[in-house]
Amino acid sequence: MKTAFFSTHKWEREVFAGSNHEIVFFETSLNSSTTSLAAGYPAVCVFVNDKLDEAVLRALQAGGTRFLALRSAGFNHVDLKAARDLGFEVARVPAYSPHSVAEHTIALMLCLNRKLHRAHARTREHNFLLDGLLGFDFHGRTIGVVGAGKIGAVVSQIMRAFGCQVLVCDPALPDSVSLERLLEQSDVVTLHCPLSPATHHLIGAEQLARMKPGSMLINTGRGGLVDSRALLASLKSGHLGALGLDVYEEEESLFFRDLSDSPLQDDVLARLLTFPNVLITAHQGFFTTEALQNIASATLENLTEFERCGRASEANSVRLVEVRS
Ligand code: NAI
Repeated sequence: MKTAFFSTHKWEREVFAGSNHEIVFFETSLNSSTTSLAAGYPAVCVFVNDKLDEAVLRALQAGGTRFLALRSAGFNHVDLKAARDLGFEVARVPAYSPHSVAEHTIALMLCLNRKLHRAHARTREHNFLLDGLLGFDFHGRTIGVVGAGKIGAVVSQIMRAFGCQVLVCDPALPDSVSLERLLEQSDVVTLHCPLSPATHHLIGAEQLARMKPGSMLINTGRGGLVDSRALLASLKSGHLGALGLDVYEEEESLFFRDLSDSPLQDDVLARLLTFPNVLITAHQGFFTTEALQNIASATLENLTEFERCGRASEANSVRLVEVRS
């Protein structure tokens, strides 16, 4: 099937090579000024920072597109109501490797705790002092996992193997504790729930104030789960002890690009990057060989299924009902 891929990178084009579908790769993201590229393509395939709002969807529909294949598990970037009303089928890759994101989450925790980013910079300068590098044993600590689905469950399992007590906040689970209790009792809080209107700014000033002084917050979920300005205030006051982010509220115009030659326009991100106890990666949690291969094979299956029967498979389809759950 003729499919227009948006926001593609060299590493993705390689894993999709040799498919039976007639794929055209565009580097540009999909937005209201690039929808004309998709005209005549029954399917478009997008990534996390392509914004499929109502205006974009209307333009796609006018160009003959009927199928939206998401190369991601998250679907917060698609207006599902507009998609349903305009008659689109939407499919995602619900689970390509929870281990990839879970392991990146643990990497951020370990790196921040033992200050590996600072130690590495120091030893390269032949500064072998330990001052400022003091960490703690994870063994015996309490980890708060917000959202214990596929990724959160793997994080919990790994942290239990470290000898941690794991508290889980997830309305779908019987052993869930309240978010308040989790924040008050955890040494590390890590976010793995989807972004939806209900979880937007789940962590704001009030929730940060509830966290233990000196504790760590990790967000590898979605940027909008956390109020970035509230993070700045908590870091400046010294209350939040460490922050690891793989996602950022305003990442759409920043991540997956080399902006090293231009002045950074985002003042909140620029300030976040000045703290020694903050570690930011640019949405690379999914970026392992295994995950990329799984994303490619599931996406190609989604295209084949739509071509075969005009619908997304039940397991991979994204419908409005999921937004409400
Ligand atoms: P999942 O659907 O298996 O699990 C999500 C869990 O969150 C569910 O158990 C659900 O009950 C729970 N949940 C929903 N609302 C909640 C709330 N208000 N408070 C606490 N828990 C809540 O999803 P999965 O595969 O574990 O992925 C989680 C998220 O991770 C995705 O939605 C996506 O945003 C993000 N992600 C990030 C990646 C990265 O590269 N950094 C890659 C893949 C996913």
